[in-house]
Amino acid sequence: MSRAAHPAGPRHADVLPGGAVPAPPADLNLLEAKVWPSTVRRGDDGAISVGGVSVRELAAEHGTPAYLIDEADWRMRARAWLAAFGDYDQAEPPVHYAGKAFLCRAVARWAAEEGLGLDVCSGGELGLALAVDFPAHRLTFHGNNKSNAELVRALDAGVGRIVLDSFDEIERLAQLAAQRGQRPRVMARVTVGVEAHTHEFIATAHEDQKFGFSLSGGLAAEAVRRVLKHDSLDLVGIHSHIGSQIFDTSGFEVAAHRAVGLLASIRDEHGIKLPELDLGGGLGIAYTSEDDPSDAFDIVAGLKAIVGRESFGYGLPIPRLTVEPGRAIAGTPGISLYEVGTVKVLDGLRTYVSVDGGMSDNIRTALYDAAYTCTLASRASEAPPMLARVVGKHCESGDIVVRDAWLPADIGPGDLLAVAATGAYCRSMASNYNQALRPPVVSVCEGESRMLVRRETEADLLALDMG
Ligand code: LLP
Repeated sequence: MSRAAHPAGPRHADVLPGGAVPAPPADLNLLEAKVWPSTVRRGDDGAISVGGVSVRELAAEHGTPAYLIDEADWRMRARAWLAAFGDYDQAEPPVHYAGKAFLCRAVARWAAEEGLGLDVCSGGELGLALAVDFPAHRLTFHGNNKSNAELVRALDAGVGRIVLDSFDEIERLAQLAAQRGQRPRVMARVTVGVEAHTHEFIATAHEDQKFGFSLSGGLAAEAVRRVLKHDSLDLVGIHSHIGSQIFDTSGFEVAAHRAVGLLASIRDEHGIKLPELDLGGGLGIAYTSEDDPSDAFDIVAGLKAIVGRESFGYGLPIPRLTVEPGRAIAGTPGISLYEVGTVKVLDGLRTYVSVDGGMSDNIRTALYDAAYTCTLASRASEAPPMLARVVGKHCESGDIVVRDAWLPADIGPGDLLAVAATGAYCRSMASNYNQALRPPVVSVCEGESRMLVRRETEADLLALDMG
């Protein structure tokens, strides 16, 4: 394994755009618990292991780049969310895993086994859930533009709830259900006007966006009127999702407050007390040491308190509360493993560490300016810290994996590099840019690894290409 020799000491911090760069950690070999899966350790040989399996072994067996999922950690987070609700009816779990974060058949089975519900937002996600016989009554079907074919599939499957997102969809679903003699349970997706403090593209409850019926504009009240006109629709509640990667829980509290206010005005106008309130997902996770997420228990306790208090204030029964965490279950248990290819030192500018993946397996840095933590994974190093930019191998200068990474100055070709907290929205948003082959997803648990999704091959890509 060759090692590039780099000048010692912190480098180039003065020239980085985007303001402050965090100071280097005291010991680059340490793994900060909140950022990494719970079973990650650095072994006696200096290599890190996850789920009891060394990354060196994982790289030898499965190749790089690869996504690794700590199965025990995933399941532990799922259980923590459910436990936060205390007693509940197991046929109607209060926590629905948002499958868009990452879904494959094994993960859908984990969700089913742990007793979660599942939020699906496309025909494809629904199809995947049905492929493992996920209990249909525990599925919630979302989407701002569901096709008739998707709605029919959801009706045929008997999904637990369909979340209505447009006037047009209300009419279409009412008709399709009536034709089949069905009466699906539906919710209305409401935009409560909360500006979640997150990236614009992942904030969803302010007014100017494609999702839901706006509360302040009166569209939510009108949607409820229209749904109630149809005997073929069983309106059970309202749904709100304010955005993603949110740390400030006051946003959820305002959303809960406004949503219960809507339940009260529905009671006043129609004389009905809707029994359910879904407050969506969006809880942030720690990507770096700067991030300080709340835990499931505190969040659920806060939401329950506010929904209880508001309901009492309006003289309403407390609605059944549900949430839909995606990232907060799947994000931290996942890491990406890469091999370093080249290290390029641009004197006085920056050091680029190139790995064998990039924006095709993690688009979040390029798309949202997301920050990540990474570590030299195949060995420990006592070399001084070097500020580097970890980049991929794509033909694009925005192909950045970790914008500002403190790495040992002796990192070089052949080293393995692990990026933390890539379990959500990385494989699920991966692409074949530059004919990249999407990496495998490997679960690790109690010293064993298991391939959940295999690496794509050139033959896979050519099979779609009709020549
Ligand atoms: N429920 C609904 C209705 C949603 O739209 C979403 C996310 C969730 C639940 C789950 O949100 P989570 O707990 O995972 O934040 N691609 C972006 C995130 C987009 C999320 C879209 N909807 C990212 O990489 O950060």
